[in-house]
Amino acid sequence: MAIPPRLMADPTKGGAVFIIGMHIHDWARATDWLPPFLAMPRMMRELERSRDLGMVSARYCLWGRTVAIVQYWKSFEHLERYARNDEYEHRPAWFECYRAASKTGSTVGIFHETYVVAPGATESLYFNMPPDFGLTGVTGAIPVHARRETAHERLHASGEPGPQA
Ligand code: HEM
Repeated sequence: MAIPPRLMADPTKGGAVFIIGMHIHDWARATDWLPPFLAMPRMMRELERSRDLGMVSARYCLWGRTVAIVQYWKSFEHLERYARNDEYEHRPAWFECYRAASKTGSTVGIFHETYVVAPGATESLYFNMPPDFGLTGVTGAIPVHARRETAHERLHASGEPGPQA
């Protein structure tokens, strides 16, 4: 069987993947979840308007009572700089979120997870996907060749240039 051309994220380049989400325990208590929920589109607009802040792309997910966004960043340092800077939408929303919860108790959960993309620590594969999808938007894409056929080989391919397809 002929295997069609596939791409992988360039394993020699770095970046960061950030998952941010909210879990709504009680839909009826909109005063709990609406303010942090509405803070999110303000942040996303800010990050999309100013690409030099470092967010490259984002995908929205919804499962049950949880809404989340998977974001691809140029680096952890960009992400941290954005999150901790008083000039941007995030820092005031962070404080307001905890201030409101400590006053009234809260039925909204907030979570985030950060994954630093370092050489030799990630593996990816894209077949028939739009250009610059996911991690390839950060690292660029390279062809999957014979020595990167399996996930194991791709994971350990860091730095190895490999033949062009
Ligand atoms: C674009 C969306 C967002 C990004 C990129 C983001 C990023 C981050 C990052 C990187 C931190 C860790 C900061 C540090 O400890 O140095 C953080 C913390 C936090 N964020 Fe966000 N965040 C986002 C959306 C939100 C939203 C919508 C809320 C709720 C209003 C929120 C509330 C918080 C809170 C409360 C913390 C502090 C957690 C703790 O250390 O106790 N974030 N965020």
